[in-house]
Amino acid sequence: MARKFFVGGNFKMNGSISSIKEIVNNLNKAVLDAEVEIVVAPPALYLLLVREHLRSGIEVAAQNVYDKPNGAFTGEISVSQLKDSNITWTILGHSERRTILNETDEVVASKSKYATENGLGVIWCCGESLEEREAGKTIAVVSKQLEALKAQVSDWSRIVIAYEPIWAIGTGKVATTQQAQDVHKAIRDWLRGVSDKVADETRILYGGSVNEKNCGELSKQPDIDGFLVGGASLKPAFVDIINCRK
Ligand code: G3P
Repeated sequence: MARKFFVGGNFKMNGSISSIKEIVNNLNKAVLDAEVEIVVAPPALYLLLVREHLRSGIEVAAQNVYDKPNGAFTGEISVSQLKDSNITWTILGHSERRTILNETDEVVASKSKYATENGLGVIWCCGESLEEREAGKTIAVVSKQLEALKAQVSDWSRIVIAYEPIWAIGTGKVATTQQAQDVHKAIRDWLRGVSDKVADETRILYGGSVNEKNCGELSKQPDIDGFLVGGASLKPAFVDIINCRK
């Protein structure tokens, strides 16, 4: 089965009602490549606003979700609340949550298990720090994150993997196409240990300073199946990234 190219926009903790409406309007009037699956992840406060105004055919994702049913969990959002609001995806395990909010591999895996088992798509993020890359530990770090995921998740059909080297996030320092392809290939090889089907069908996105200039070359790599875009997803250039294969 061919893997459908996937472009996600992670707005992080950015935007206001008016700027987010502007992003939505830009997407609504753009001519978008029909061969691309598009998902945008605004801050939680704006999820309903985006879902209400955004054209159908583009899905909306939360940036995080909790791994328990509704109840006494102040500050959290549940999977059923997202589904009730027609929010069909969530990002999980972004490095900013792992490093700043101290989410462990196990916590991220538990959330991924709960979300997938309850019908949400998960953009699951992994990646190494600069220090780990320079020590030659990239594949070991990513494999350890994947092992923790595998220990808990069984439905891989709802998972899209985003490889985001931490040193390339928001720094303007994009991984070279070869660096990205090498890690994506290693992830695909690792997935073969789950099954050939999972390896062949799971989309592996690249994230880290993707923009309208570097996306074309990256998209040509055999194991790069799309992007998770941060800063550039807040700009009109996001449309060019979505359409990078045209
Ligand atoms: O999740 C997307 C991300 O972390 C990359 O951010 O701003 O470097 O595109 P950015």
